[in-house]
Amino acid sequence: MVQIKSERLWGSLMDLARIGATPKGGVRRLTLTEVDREGRDRFVGWCKEAGLEIAVDGIGNIFARRAGTDPSAAPVAIGSHLDSQPSGGKFDGAYGVMAGLEVVRTLNDAGIRTRAPLEVVSWTNEEGSRFVPTCMGSGVFAGVFSLESVSGNKDVDGITVGEALKKTGYAGTAQPHKLGAYFEAHIEQGPVLEQTKTTIGVVLGALGQRWFDVAITGQDSHAGPTPMETRKDGLVAASRLVLEVNRIANTFPDYARGTVGFMQVKPNSRNVVPGEVRMTVDFRNAKDATLTAMCNELDLSVSRVEKECRVKIEKKQVVYFPPSEFAPDLVDSVRAGSKAFGYSHRDIVSGAAHDAVYMSRIAPTAMVFVPCEGGISHNEIESARAEDLAAGCNVLLQAVLTKAGTA
Ligand code: GLV
Ligand code: MN
Ligand code: MN
Repeated sequence: MVQIKSERLWGSLMDLARIGATPKGGVRRLTLTEVDREGRDRFVGWCKEAGLEIAVDGIGNIFARRAGTDPSAAPVAIGSHLDSQPSGGKFDGAYGVMAGLEVVRTLNDAGIRTRAPLEVVSWTNEEGSRFVPTCMGSGVFAGVFSLESVSGNKDVDGITVGEALKKTGYAGTAQPHKLGAYFEAHIEQGPVLEQTKTTIGVVLGALGQRWFDVAITGQDSHAGPTPMETRKDGLVAASRLVLEVNRIANTFPDYARGTVGFMQVKPNSRNVVPGEVRMTVDFRNAKDATLTAMCNELDLSVSRVEKECRVKIEKKQVVYFPPSEFAPDLVDSVRAGSKAFGYSHRDIVSGAAHDAVYMSRIAPTAMVFVPCEGGISHNEIESARAEDLAAGCNVLLQAVLTKAGTA
């Protein structure tokens, strides 16, 4: 059985991690920034060296194509994202893109031609940190939202997606095209594989998500003369909502998760009762109905906090996708690939969003997970073992070959 080169995969990951490297060993490669452009350029350079043909679409997704023997066959795509969280790690996203490249390099070395063409894809703005929504590029490609509807979305400094895209030079003209299948390799970003000493996670699907932007308006006032019982303290209201989000996620079933990860307090001065707070809410669940019930419960909390804290609270949904299920035959091929190499494996559900979620709406899709140290991700200390990354890539290669066929 043909195998990928572990050192080459690791080398590419480490090279890429130098672009936007942080002092603590992580990566800060926010979407559509100058460092993101550098990362993209490096990836495109490697793809060209591997003989791939590059196409870029309007939202900046990069498709690197290796011809198949049957030009009429829809391509089998392999991808993930090169953007990172503000204090992200070396592997979240980058692994899936570099694993796709490693599959192609391996096939080149072995002189293997596939029947269907292959495409290594880097999706724009998977993280959803600088700009919402998460999985923006794959969402546009899949027709979940239009390019126009996201182009005006702004970051905290008021820069729009359209402006940032133009500046990077990655606003292309390629049109959406049909895919025969989509595969994505990723670190697990949670503790299950490591704790169970399992090498491969066979991903059945992903939790559904609802994200909100919340704006709380109270009134700035003096910290001394303003009596406690008349204050309109936006931060007290926000703090109570944080606890409510946490309570809801702790009390609802079906893998409920709830996070407030972003907060801006104004005027942010030690002797002013804060009159304005902006914050986010991220709810996740394995069942759509439970996800809705969590949001209904939050609405009740919002009304209560508004009244008791004498503030106004506006809540706007900025991301919604229901729980997704991947294609059983492709999931089976991931399982079969693990067995063929003798890797330990187990079925797993993804708590994280991935571009695979939107791809699964337009093409048969599957994911391969590998363990990461301590289950930690979205953190500069994120780490994974070279042998696990190689194992995931070998499984990916087998699954891709099964789907694409050999000439
Ligand atoms: C993507 O990284 C997510 O938030 O799940
Ligand atoms: Mn990711
Ligand atoms: Mn991420």
